[in-house]
Amino acid sequence: DQNVITLNNGVRIPQRGFGVFQVPPDDTQRAVEQAIEIGYRHIDTAAAYNNEAGVGAAVRASGLPRGELFVTTKLRNGEHGYESALTAYDETLERLGLEYADLYLLHWPNPTVDLYVDSWRALERIHTEGRVRAIGTSNFLAEHLDRLAKEGEIVPAVNQIELHPTYQQRELTELCRERSIAVEAYSPLGQGGDLDDPVLASIASDHDVTPAQVVLRWHLQLGHIVIPKSVNPERIRANFDLGGFELTDAELASVTGLENGNRLGNDPRTFAISQIR
Ligand code: A2P
Repeated sequence: DQNVITLNNGVRIPQRGFGVFQVPPDDTQRAVEQAIEIGYRHIDTAAAYNNEAGVGAAVRASGLPRGELFVTTKLRNGEHGYESALTAYDETLERLGLEYADLYLLHWPNPTVDLYVDSWRALERIHTEGRVRAIGTSNFLAEHLDRLAKEGEIVPAVNQIELHPTYQQRELTELCRERSIAVEAYSPLGQGGDLDDPVLASIASDHDVTPAQVVLRWHLQLGHIVIPKSVNPERIRANFDLGGFELTDAELASVTGLENGNRLGNDPRTFAISQIR
């Protein structure tokens, strides 16, 4: 499969993941089983999504060897701190019903409580003990990555950030590239809101694909890992079927031209200052 990226520690990650943010706990197992059936081999969840149990159940029910699936989960923002993060990882594995996660991320830096370096040290220990294949961050800005670079030992394997045509955080993605930190795009379709643009409609019609497929193809060609989410089986399939066409440099540039600087999600500098356990 050409849609695989090798992380800075040699671990391989499928570039197309299935995201389960906001998938209701009771629907998650079925949705993930469907995604695996379609061909997804990378599932992205988080303790905060309250659906890790469904993800793990689907992974176990798939009948695939565990090594053929890539499971990402994340430390809840209220569980920062060294001991707290160690405990949280054990609890996450219990909910997943798995012996290890492939990738464990700090979900948010939560800089106002100033504990993310301590949490990172816990993740480094879990990784050094061989209990997780890779560790990384989510929603980390340059200032947070700089601090981990100074005070930590392991360079994050990935940084998962809000990234879509209208909000690309180009300075941050460039910094990640320089440091060999893979970029994972969440809300890769701009929560669906980026898809109405006539520029995308025109490119899509030229290739006989949908605007969503153009956007996801743009991500793949720029080297991003994507985790589109959908609860609709046809769209889950369409978001995986991204072969058979390629965007030209001019088309890539047109999509890149859609930047407008509007963040849709929370601000990493302030999010969840009050959610500490
Ligand atoms: P739905 O779940 O009904 O498919 P993002 O991944 O950027 O957060 O975007 C997710 C949003 O985009 C959801 O509202 C989802 O709705 C919608 N969506 C996902 N895939 C597609 C697609 N292929 N075409 C149109 N809308 C999509």
